Amino acid sequence: MADRHAIAAGCGHGLSDKSLLLFGSLCQLLLLLQAAALSFQYDFSIPGVLDRANLVYINDSFSAGDRISLSNMSDNSVGRVAYAQPVRLWDCRTGAAASFATSFSFAIVGNHSSTRGDGMAFFVGPFPATMPWESGAQYLGLYTNQNLMGSPPTVAVEFDTFWNSNLDPPGVADHVGIDVNSIRSANYTRDLPSLGLYGTMSANITYDAGSRMMAVSIRLADGSIHGVQTSVDLRAAGLPQEAAVGFSASTGGFFESHQLLSWAFNSTDMAAGNPNSTDTAGAGGNLITLLIS
Ligand SMILES: *[C@@H]1O[C@H](CO)[C@@H](O)[C@H](O)[C@H]1NC(C)=O
Ligand SMILES: *[C@@H]1O[C@H](CO)[C@@H](O)[C@H](O)[C@H]1NC(C)=O
Ligand SMILES: *[C@@H]1O[C@H](CO)[C@@H](O)[C@H](O)[C@H]1NC(C)=O
Ligand SMILES: *[C@@H]1O[C@H](CO)[C@@H](O)[C@H](O)[C@H]1NC(C)=O
Ligand SMILES: *[C@@H]1O[C@H](CO)[C@@H](O)[C@H](O)[C@H]1NC(C)=O
Ligand SMILES: *[C@@H]1O[C@H](CO)[C@@H](O)[C@H](O)[C@H]1NC(C)=O
Ligand SMILES: *[C@@H]1O[C@H](CO)[C@@H](O)[C@H](O)[C@H]1NC(C)=O
Repeated sequence: MADRHAIAAGCGHGLSDKSLLLFGSLCQLLLLLQAAALSFQYDFSIPGVLDRANLVYINDSFSAGDRISLSNMSDNSVGRVAYAQPVRLWDCRTGAAASFATSFSFAIVGNHSSTRGDGMAFFVGPFPATMPWESGAQYLGLYTNQNLMGSPPTVAVEFDTFWNSNLDPPGVADHVGIDVNSIRSANYTRDLPSLGLYGTMSANITYDAGSRMMAVSIRLADGSIHGVQTSVDLRAAGLPQEAAVGFSASTGGFFESHQLLSWAFNSTDMAAGNPNSTDTAGAGGNLITLLIS
């Protein structure tokens, strides 16, 4: 048990021995219940799928029959949609981390000109998902205005349709960027055509826990495929063990429609993926300890 105490303490809980034992048991019980992979697949064009989908709508997002509208077709609108259950990203006790893959199709329509914006994003953040305050317009419903405080840890893939000279990379208007706790992308595409993020598109995002590489591939409406990747450690970025996943979008002085048409997500099972995690039996034993203590 000494080892388990030490590991539980390593999770940052300065508790008494007795509490630690209880915490260790709870942690293992939760792991037994929640180490399982998360997997879902929604095609919102199929009647009934949107109504039954396990999603939460935040601020201006709404169900639009065969798709989700992430923001209003008006200025200064911001919205989010998140999966209602958390995805388990890492495990404080074993140090194991999960990999995930997500695919989605989406549409951005409205003005096909520079007088449109601001864009949309896939995000991973604290569970349950909320709208960060002051995160509209150029902040894409992802991060609080950089001049203010209190932005929750968030890693995102942004599809940015409006060039903000103070925040966006020089020389590229439309871009796909990977954001790590900042709207200033850690890496971004440099090869999208002008106004390329328009019409119906699809994207794949993968996160490999082993290499800590996040990679994005997007197919534009013209059929061309573009990609970007960057190294990011989700745990070091401050993301909790159990995170929310979803989409956000915003408009500013100009607007456009941001629509989610389908969404599939898979994460790996950490217990199976980590050879050290042989706790299934141990958790059962501790469950008895928990029940009789
Ligand atoms: C978004 O649309 C809803 C419903 O039409 C409306 O109540 C809300 O005020 C709108 N929000 C913005 C920011 O325009
Ligand atoms: C999720 O896993 C299923 C089953 O292996 C697979 O068919 C599907 O393509 C995967 N989806 C994603 C987004 O990786
Ligand atoms: C989201 O909606 C809440 C409640 O209406 C509002 O107080 C908040 O300002 C909105 N967030 C943003 C970023 O607009
Ligand atoms: C996404 O992955 C699927 C399955 O591997 C593939 O068929 C599709 O072409 C990929 N899309 C992009 C934009 O890379
Ligand atoms: C940025 O993405 C490109 C395209 O995937 C890749 O070649 C490059 O190495 C990435 N740069 C960083 C710093 O990750
Ligand atoms: C579309 O562009 C025109 C011309 O710049 C502008 O007046 C209008 O507000 C824009 N509409 C939207 C929806 O942003
Ligand atoms: C498994 O345990 C070994 C020995 O204690 C350790 O070196 C290794 O980092 C652990 N692997 C994982 C994935 O936790």
